[in-house]
Amino acid sequence: MSTIFITGSSSGIGKETAKLFAEKGWTVIATMRTPEKEKELTSYENVKLYPLDITKPEQIEETVSAVLAEHEVDVLFNNAGYGMKARFEDMTEEIMWKSINTNLLGMVRVTQKFIPYFKAKRSGIILTTTSLAGEMGLILDGVYAADKWAVTGLCEMLYSELAPFGIQVKTLVPGVVKTRFVMEQIPNEGYEEMVKNQVQLLIPDMEQVEDASEAAQDAYTAVTDGDKDRMCYVTGKRAKELYAKRQEMGGEGFRRYVRNALMQKEEK
Ligand SMILES: NC(=O)c1ccc[n+]([C@@H]2O[C@H](COP(=O)([O-])OP(=O)(O)OC[C@H]3O[C@@H](n4cnc5c(N)ncnc54)[C@H](OP(=O)(O)O)[C@@H]3O)[C@@H](O)[C@H]2O)c1
Repeated sequence: MSTIFITGSSSGIGKETAKLFAEKGWTVIATMRTPEKEKELTSYENVKLYPLDITKPEQIEETVSAVLAEHEVDVLFNNAGYGMKARFEDMTEEIMWKSINTNLLGMVRVTQKFIPYFKAKRSGIILTTTSLAGEMGLILDGVYAADKWAVTGLCEMLYSELAPFGIQVKTLVPGVVKTRFVMEQIPNEGYEEMVKNQVQLLIPDMEQVEDASEAAQDAYTAVTDGDKDRMCYVTGKRAKELYAKRQEMGGEGFRRYVRNALMQKEEK
């Protein structure tokens, strides 16, 4: 039986992934900031809850060491994240730090802890939830955009750096998924029309917003498809379309396409 270690398992994509892997017979190390509040995952015999706030290095040390003393881990799924919506000039130090500390440094800390372990056993998969916001420029994403691009870049770098040790590095790239992911809102005056256009670009059909269970299914595919060469798993119909458009148009063409779509004026 294989074992997956998941960060941010208390809700959304992390929780659905924990449930799916458990149902497929895996041992799931479901980590979260407040395991004492968890009511659903406790009903699975093969799901083990551990406390983990990825902004706390000492807790990462403690939890990862405790887990590795008891379990052989095959997959690390870096999934925890924090979002914001702000005009770039309005981001506070506090919000910027929370974003970088969670999305970028949190992922770095947990991954660093697992690399020597995976290197020693010469196998392992590191799957990380990035975002379409790490593949294209979406307005008002603030430092979240930088974090997700940075994490995408890190994964691409590690894809080669860890390959000689049999470690596979993969990304799960969601567009818009129905979860309780709320991007911290800071007033966005002056961007009302662009925001409407951006929502239209990302969600042309509200009926088709992706469920977290679909993202979990794609996480499962990324881990189990046996494809040692593929890094990027875009999840969700619209995200796949936009990602394909970027490949097809190239970086410059796609950037212009997005900017023009966001700047379109509403017909009166
Ligand atoms: N939903 C979308 O549309 C979307 C799109 C693109 C990318 N994503 C990415 O998908 C991932 C999962 O988000 P989701 O959509 O499933 O939203 P979600 O339901 O809000 O889940 C976010 C998870 O991250 C956890 N978390 C936040 N800060 C943490 C910290 N410091 N340490 C440990 N855990 C922490 C949350 O835990 P608590 O319960 O303790 O807060 C929660 O379990 C994130 O990386 C997000 O950036 C989501």
